[in-house]
Amino acid sequence: MKFFIDTANLNDIQEAQNLGVLDGVTTNPSLMAKEGITGRTNVMAHYAKICDIVDGDVSAEVIATDYEGIIREGEELADIHPRIVVKVPMIKDGVRALKYFSQQGIKTNCTLVFSAGQALLAAKAGATYVSPFIGRLDDVSTDGLQLIEQIVHIYDTYKFNTQVLAASIRHTMHLIKCAELGADVATCPLNVILGLLKHPLTDSGLQKFLADHQKAQEAANA
Ligand code: E4P
Repeated sequence: MKFFIDTANLNDIQEAQNLGVLDGVTTNPSLMAKEGITGRTNVMAHYAKICDIVDGDVSAEVIATDYEGIIREGEELADIHPRIVVKVPMIKDGVRALKYFSQQGIKTNCTLVFSAGQALLAAKAGATYVSPFIGRLDDVSTDGLQLIEQIVHIYDTYKFNTQVLAASIRHTMHLIKCAELGADVATCPLNVILGLLKHPLTDSGLQKFLADHQKAQEAANA
């Protein structure tokens, strides 16, 4: 399972990269705005900085919602770096654009996916990744993890190459369940990745090991 970090914050990206478990980055216009990145030139420069930090795929989202605009923006984004993945919303012109990009060999991430039908369309159009938003479904009392299970089943049945990129992950249980269900990728904030580290028995066990070691050293030196 690949781990992507879902942020445009360079420090968080660097910290996850330093941990040695990072496979890529996803961003969206809200995350870019949160970092105060505005204007085409700054946005493009920021994506280039992200690509310099990580070794894996970096999703960069288009703002346009019409076919020609999506193609124009997507091609500009793809030119920034070979590891840029053009993130395209699940709308009619987006599906057409996914098909175009797949024919051009440009990697894509179909975003804002909330149903199995949408995921099926994305795969048919040749998307590299599909992003079902688990947390936002949970927010409206719908089981986001059930959607992951459904999509994984459909893609396995028909041997689609599109990778299931579980998105809108809010906590470690989401991440672990996605791993159990066979999602290819999970994208989440840094605190969720770091949350996997934590267990009280690890902390107390380590304290005991270090205390015993210290006692033995003191006894040997006495
Ligand atoms: C996915 O690519 C999105 O950027 C993201 O996971 C959305 O998460 P949110 O629902 O926490 O905003």
